[in-house]
Amino acid sequence: MTDADLAAVAAAEATIYPFPWTRGNFADSLAAGYGAWLAQEDGRMIGYAVMMHVLDEAHLLNISVLPEMQRSGRGSALLIHLFAHARLQAAKRMLLEVRPGNLAGQGFYRHHGFVEIGRRRDYYPAHDGREDAIVMARDL
Ligand SMILES: CC(C)(COP(=O)(O)OP(=O)(O)OC[C@H]1O[C@@H](n2cnc3c(N)ncnc32)[C@H](O)[C@@H]1OP(=O)(O)O)[C@@H](O)C(=O)NCCC(=O)NCCS
Repeated sequence: MTDADLAAVAAAEATIYPFPWTRGNFADSLAAGYGAWLAQEDGRMIGYAVMMHVLDEAHLLNISVLPEMQRSGRGSALLIHLFAHARLQAAKRMLLEVRPGNLAGQGFYRHHGFVEIGRRRDYYPAHDGREDAIVMARDL
């Protein structure tokens, strides 16, 4: 992902999440040097991911597949790429947060070996205030 992709990524994000990251959130991630990828098919973006490294941990900040392309293995392909990249950076573990209400996301992560290791209170904006985050992790 580069600055040239930000408009398309932010537009896609707005179709995927009720509380989407903004263009500025993605721009800040690139400026901070986080790993950021587009998944493309036939030159068309079908998904993207953002991941941060801290010491020997990789922190998955965003992984998304276009709604019409979901549940056909694309997210898995992207995540497996992230596992490989994180190992190359000497990460021993991958961490992420997911909304308790995001059962699809939790199912996806469990399918890939993540387990719940804790909660962060009032982590996400929600329609009626804030929502906790489930923290999940997987050894690499
Ligand atoms: C979560 C997401 C990235 C998964 O990508 P995907 O391409 O749809 O997932 P895959 O087809 O690779 O799914 C692999 C496995 O994960 C699990 N899974 C995926 N979607 C699921 C769902 N909606 N419900 C339950 N399990 C699910 C299944 O075990 C699936 O294997 P199966 O299809 O053989 O049963 C994608 O659905 C997405 O972008 N969702 C909206 C954004 C989001 O919630 N991102 C995560 C935020 S923390």
